[in-house]
Amino acid sequence: MSQEDPSAGRRKRKPYIAANWKMNLDRNQALDMIKTLKARLGDGDDREVAVFAPAVYLADVAAVSQGSPIGLGAQNMHWEENGAFTGEISALMLRGVGVDRVLIGHSERRHLFFEKDEWMGRKIRAALDHDILPTLCVGETIEERKAGKAQEVIARQLKTGLEWAQAIEMSRVTIAYEPVWAIGTGETATPDQAGEAHGMIRDWISDRFGAEVADDLRILYGGSVKADNVKELMAVEGVDGVLVGGASLQPDAILPIIEFDK
Ligand code: PGA
Repeated sequence: MSQEDPSAGRRKRKPYIAANWKMNLDRNQALDMIKTLKARLGDGDDREVAVFAPAVYLADVAAVSQGSPIGLGAQNMHWEENGAFTGEISALMLRGVGVDRVLIGHSERRHLFFEKDEWMGRKIRAALDHDILPTLCVGETIEERKAGKAQEVIARQLKTGLEWAQAIEMSRVTIAYEPVWAIGTGETATPDQAGEAHGMIRDWISDRFGAEVADDLRILYGGSVKADNVKELMAVEGVDGVLVGGASLQPDAILPIIEFDK
C-alpha cells in the first residue's frame, strides 16, 4: 500500500455504528431491540456496533447482549467513584453492571443541562482509569457556525475534553463530531461540512498526540443520520462511523444503517 493512498487509514479503522437511545424506549422495547440486533449481527466482527442505553436498563441489556459483540454504553457519568452526588452514576458503578463504554459531553448534556467544558476532561480521565471506552462528543451550534467560530469551538472542546488523556491511551478514545444544528432536526451536515470538521479534528489530534494516534483514531459523525444518508456520510474521507439518535429506536431504521455497505 503506497503511503499516499488516502484511504489507507480508513481501511484500517473499523467502521463503528453507535446507537444513542437517549431517554427513549420502554424496558421491553429496549430488550427486544437488543435481541433483534444480537440475532442479526451474530458474531460478525467487520464492524463495531454499540448501544448507549438509558442507565436503568444497562444491567438488563448487559444480560441479554451477553455472548454477542454488541458494545454497551452509558450516556453520561460522573468523574468521582462515589460520594454525595445525588442523581449521578460513577464509572465504577457502570463497570460493575457490564458497561464497557460511555458518551462524554453529548450536546444535550452541554446545552440542556449546562455541563461545563472542563468537566469533560475529568470524565474522560475517570473513564480511562476504570477501563471504560469514552466517546467525546464535540460540535458547534448554528450561531457559532454562522459566526465562523465552528473550528474554534471544536478545538476548545477537544482541548478541555482531552486535557488529562495521554497519547498511549488514545487508542481507547473515540471522537464524535455532532453539529448541534443537525441533532434531531432532520438537517444533516453536507459531505463537505462533515469532511472539513473531521479533517480539522484529525489535524488537531495529530498536533497534540502525534500522527500515528491521529491515523488510528475513529471519528464518528452524528446528527440526523438515517438509512438514506448513511452511505454518503460513510463515504466521506475521515468519517469512520456514525452516532445515531432518532433512527436507532426501531430495528427497521437502525439495521440498514449498521449494514450501510451491504
Ligand atoms: P439524531 O441524534 O440522530 O436524532 O440527530 C444524534 C445524537 O444526538 O447522538
